[in-house]
This record gives sequence, structure tokens and C-alpha cells, in this order.
Amino acid sequence: MPIRKVGVRGIGAYTPPKVVTNFDLEKIVETSDEWIFTRTGIRERRIAEPDMATSDLSYMASKIALDSANLTPGDLDLIIVATVTPDMFFPATACILQDKLGATCPGFDLSAGCSGLIYALSVGAQFIANGMYDNILVVGGETLSKIIDWQDRSTCVLFGDAASAVILGPVDTGGFRSFVLGADGGGGKLLELPAGGSRLPASYETISQRLHFIKMNGRDVFKFAVRVMEEASLEAIDKAGLTLKDIDLFIPHQANIRIIESAAERLNVPKDKFFVNLDRYGNTSSASVGLALYEAFWEGKIQKGSKILMVGFGAGLTWGACVLEW
Ligand code: ACO
Repeated sequence: MPIRKVGVRGIGAYTPPKVVTNFDLEKIVETSDEWIFTRTGIRERRIAEPDMATSDLSYMASKIALDSANLTPGDLDLIIVATVTPDMFFPATACILQDKLGATCPGFDLSAGCSGLIYALSVGAQFIANGMYDNILVVGGETLSKIIDWQDRSTCVLFGDAASAVILGPVDTGGFRSFVLGADGGGGKLLELPAGGSRLPASYETISQRLHFIKMNGRDVFKFAVRVMEEASLEAIDKAGLTLKDIDLFIPHQANIRIIESAAERLNVPKDKFFVNLDRYGNTSSASVGLALYEAFWEGKIQKGSKILMVGFGAGLTWGACVLEW
């Protein structure tokens, strides 16, 4: 089978209109704008309305991505949705999205926490590289507001809702030059949603113990994140046959400005080479890297030939990085 170069043909993102600021959160839990901003860099986040699910945000982002690629839903060969907040266990959010778009291709979901988009891009890229498919829609979509414990100040201030979408296709020049994926299931307990699955099905007890919400050991996740951001970035750059100096733009997972700054320091890369928009959106998990890529593109930070390093980490624990030549 042929090995083809795979690149980005189109990109889209969508955030729900409702803005929730740190000051709004001061009215819900015992916190302050000052604490949230100095510890995380976040000022506000977007929150979906109660009747909005992940497929709704994903649909909006996908339409923009399809338009930018000059494709129609009928042109799609596969849909992959990376999410930890699917509309429901089944059917897959990718199938719900396929129906909303009016596409006819296969689709499936992928769960890799905040590394989800990079995992999904790497999976989609295989189908194109080996010649099986031509046009693949990869979505990172999350409505984290639905699984946040709004009584837990240590987590509810961190997350937001968004979707981002990327159309992958064969390209003649540039494209993805490397992928690095990693997982450490032993660290899974550091960041989990304990109940609602086959281990702890929904019951009065699980609900009264608030086990259907995100639980996180923030300090340990922080240490893990700083380490893997550096290691995965270096590995992906090396695999691409490049050096740190060749990278024009770093697009890190947007979880915490202190994690991004620590990674920049450890890599000895100027901080302004790292794109940051977490101040406006918080941590949007699978959507985060794609939302940053989309905004960086529209802010003119990406040109033809730009070499971009995307890197993420998240629940699993997982991590992923890739080098993309635009
Ligand atoms: N407002 C005010 N005080 C708070 C808040 C809040 N919102 N949250 C916690 N505190 C308090 C704590 O209770 C603690 O008080 P104490 O010292 O009296 O016990 C104090 O602030 C310090 O708490 P720490 O947890 O030590 O604060 P830290 O500096 O570690 O920052 C944070 C916490 C922001 C969560 C940080 O650890 C972090 O960003 N970790 C990484 C999280 C992350 O990236 N998660 C996403 C992973 S990706 C995915 O897949 C979803």
C-alpha cells in the first residue's frame, strides 16, 4: 500500500456564547478572581446551555472546518470524535454528528482525556497515509461543564466547553512529520470520573457521594504535565528530524499558564513562541489544542511552511505530541 503525506485541509472551532468569568464563580464557590488568575492564568470560560450537548458544539466546529476545506459532508470518509463528555455512552457522538451533518461515512469516538485530539489526529492520519481514506473529520469536543462538580472549587474553576475540528487529507508537501503517543494507566486515579461505568453503575449512593463528577489530584497532575510536556515535545521534534530551533510555533494543551511556562523554561524556548488562549476558555480538554490551532491560524501566526509542535496531556494518564508542517 502507498504511504502518503497527510496534512490539514481545513480547520474550525466553536465555543458556546455564554461567558462565565472568575467573578461569576466567586458567587458560586469560595474563591477569587485573584486566586484563579494567579494559579492558572484563566479569566473566563464558555459554558454550554443545559440543552446543548457535545455533538451540538462539534457540529458547529465541523461545519466551519468543512467550509474551510471546500468539502461537503458527503465527501467525508470517516469521522473520529475525541471526547470525555460524549452525548451518551452510545450511540457514539461521532455517529450523532454524522447524522446531524448529513454525512454517510463511518464514525467512532476515542477517549484519551485532554490528549484526545492528538490521539485522534494520529489515528486519522494512518487511514490516509495507507490510502484507505481521503477526507477525515477529526473533532475534539467537550461539554465539561456537565461533569464538573460546581461545589468543588478546586476543579470547577479550571474547565470550559468548546469543540474544534480538523479535516485531514493527503498533501503533496508538508503535513504531519511525527506523532508521539504515551499512556501511564497507573496514574489514572489522579484524574477520573469514578461512577457511571461498569465499575460503579449509577445508584443513589454514587449520586449522593457526587461520584459522577471530575475528581482530580491537581498537584500530582501538575508535576506529571510539566514532565511529559517537555519529554513528548523533544521526542516528537527529534522524530521529525528537526531541532527545537526549527519550530515556529508551540501549541500546548491549554490547562494552566504555569504548566506552559514551566515547559517553556525546561525546553529553553521563549514563552512568546507558545500560543496561549486559556485566559478566555480555560481547559477545554480534547477541544483545547484544536481551538488554539484555529485561533493561532486566524491571528496570522501560522503561514505556509510553518513548523508547529502540538503537545497535550490528560486523563489516562495520557500524553501526545506531533509536528505539523503547515
Ligand atoms: N479558590 C481558592 N482557593 C483554592 C481554590 C480556589 N478555586 N482551589 C483550591 N484552593 C486552595 C486549596 O484548598 C489549598 O488550600 P490549603 O493550602 O488551605 O489546603 C490552596 O488553595 C492551594 O491548593 P493547591 O491544590 O496546592 O494549589 P495549586 O497551586 O497546586 O493549584 C491547580 C491548583 C490550579 C489545580 C494546579 O494544581 C493545577 O493546575 N494542576 C493541574 C491540573 C490540570 O492541568 N488538570 C487538567 C488535566 S487534563 C484533563 O484530562 C482534564
